[in-house]
Amino acid sequence: MSFVVVEKTDRIAWVTLNRPEKLNALNNQVLQDLEQTFATLEEDPEVGVVIVTGAGEKAFVAGADISELKSLDTAGARTQALRGQAVLQRIESMPKPVIAAVNGFALGGGCELALACHIRIASENARFGLPEVSLGIIPGYGGTQRLPRLVGKGVALDMILSGDMVPAADALRMGLVSRVVALADLKAAAEKLARTILTRGPLALRHAIAAVNEGMEMPQDRGLQYEAALFGLLAASQDMQEGMGAFLEKRPAAFKGL
Ligand code: COA
Repeated sequence: MSFVVVEKTDRIAWVTLNRPEKLNALNNQVLQDLEQTFATLEEDPEVGVVIVTGAGEKAFVAGADISELKSLDTAGARTQALRGQAVLQRIESMPKPVIAAVNGFALGGGCELALACHIRIASENARFGLPEVSLGIIPGYGGTQRLPRLVGKGVALDMILSGDMVPAADALRMGLVSRVVALADLKAAAEKLARTILTRGPLALRHAIAAVNEGMEMPQDRGLQYEAALFGLLAASQDMQEGMGAFLEKRPAAFKGL
């Protein structure tokens, strides 16, 4: 059985990390399955939004697989970090919105996976953490880079240096997640958000993700130029004519992604 299960309904692809007996820990096979899954979903015209979650009610993902990490030497560990980073980079760069539905522990690589998604919704029982320093290592799948960009350097260093877990309510307060719901409501909440996003212009979504992702890495004046360039590109799209026409005609837009 694959470690990554994909279920598609109504243009939403649910991607479930499926290794519950190890709290969905990311071993190399899971990373490979995840990479292949996102490569396929990116090209799949039937998919407009992806939701990532963990199997079971206990964990989203409890980290990189510690039993695999333990035997790595210097070159191997560096390669491993670059490999994990590349897989998560692919997720962050998806031109379709990716929502993390965090249903329990999101630790280490699991927290880093959630950070690479575009939006994070958590269940009330979710707990976030980068406990790597308690293992004598540091986060290696992007945690030291994406967390401070998301929540600020001070809060990020608190989490990274203490290794402490942060409950969902605190994660919401610090901006690590944008919504928290009861575990029983998590699937419905993620789907509701996905359905809202699916009514929006697909090209606009693609360019909005690029504008934020790329713009965050630029000085603001260059980011503004980039935003204006993408804004200009969208003016040539059928989607813009449809979206504005639909507004003026007081009807829902029927976007084609063209
Ligand atoms: N890598 C490999 N195996 C892991 C794992 C990980 N990151 N996280 C959990 N597991 C395994 C456990 O070894 C255990 O396997 P076993 O039943 O064969 O012994 C199984 O998943 C269940 O975990 P367990 O520790 O028994 O559950 P718990 O409810 O007592 O504790 C956690 C839950 C999340 C607090 C605990 O599993 C934990 O601290 N995991 C490691 C978190 C971590 O350091 N992640 C960063 C890795 S770089």
